[in-house]
Amino acid sequence: MSSLSPQSIELVLLVSLDTEQQMKVRDIRNEEKVRKWMYTDHLISANEHLGWINRLKNDDQQITFAVMGDGSEILGVVSLNAIDSLHKKADWAFYLTESSRGGLGSALEFSFINFVFEQLEMEKLNCEVIEGNDAVVKLHKKFLFQEEGFRRSNIIKNSDRKGVHSLGLTKDEWQSGKKAVREKYSTVFEKFSINIQWQNKEETPRHPIDQIESARAKNNLNWMSILRLALEKSPETAKPIIDEIKHIDREISTLTDKLTAPDPSSTD
Ligand SMILES: CC(C)(COP(=O)(O)OP(=O)(O)OC[C@H]1O[C@@H](n2cnc3c(N)ncnc32)[C@H](O)[C@@H]1OP(=O)(O)O)[C@@H](O)C(=O)NCCC(=O)NCCS
Repeated sequence: MSSLSPQSIELVLLVSLDTEQQMKVRDIRNEEKVRKWMYTDHLISANEHLGWINRLKNDDQQITFAVMGDGSEILGVVSLNAIDSLHKKADWAFYLTESSRGGLGSALEFSFINFVFEQLEMEKLNCEVIEGNDAVVKLHKKFLFQEEGFRRSNIIKNSDRKGVHSLGLTKDEWQSGKKAVREKYSTVFEKFSINIQWQNKEETPRHPIDQIESARAKNNLNWMSILRLALEKSPETAKPIIDEIKHIDREISTLTDKLTAPDPSSTD
């Protein structure tokens, strides 16, 4: 047995981190050796990144964890996507910053599969790997995933069409094979102590700003429905009201400018 104590790893919901930590996830996502294997490989802007995290807050089909090391440093991401509670299935994916690799990927994969089947009570776990990422196909097979197909010429990567491997694992296969996997890779798993911080969304207290944000998003849809109806049924009456809204919007914009304009009373 190793004499070193295991490295403690926490999986924490990305949406619950502060903005500074969330931005560190962007740095990793933008690393050359990560984006190379992602479906979108452009450099992600701060705005795009924060917009994605905002959308995650109201998305029941995705659970995204940041991987955190001993000193709360961000090491990567593990995510569950396309969660389908009717058919008890989901897709998953993960990435790590280069310096943290070397065993951590395997240890995470073992813990995460267990979490998905035992805690989330899924019955099928799928993943997709871009053509050429043979190390990751091999990695998933070590954890009992079976290759279920290869979608030829399925995506565009650097102007080239690439295929995508589809891999899948059933809960039954995992339950009957996981003991052997654990024994086989025990020396790697002993190096890490992995904890997944999980609470159902319903149990997680939401920040009032998040609650306002989702309420406003719903009401925005309602406003657009009213607008559509008004323009359809009585365009002549609706138009002056819309002009008035535009006028007030311009006023709000002028007032907003004042918020960010330099303070004239400041002597700096
Ligand atoms: C996938 C990933 C999270 C695995 O983490 P890791 O810490 O490298 O995983 P491990 O060290 O446990 O390695 C697992 C196996 O893959 C091999 N491997 C991993 N990356 C490799 C690479 N770039 N080249 C060759 N082999 C590699 C390891 O040698 C090991 O094989 P072994 O068990 O036969 O020794 C990490 O490599 C990564 O972030 N890759 C880029 C993003 C990506 O491809 N994500 C998967 C998309 S679903």
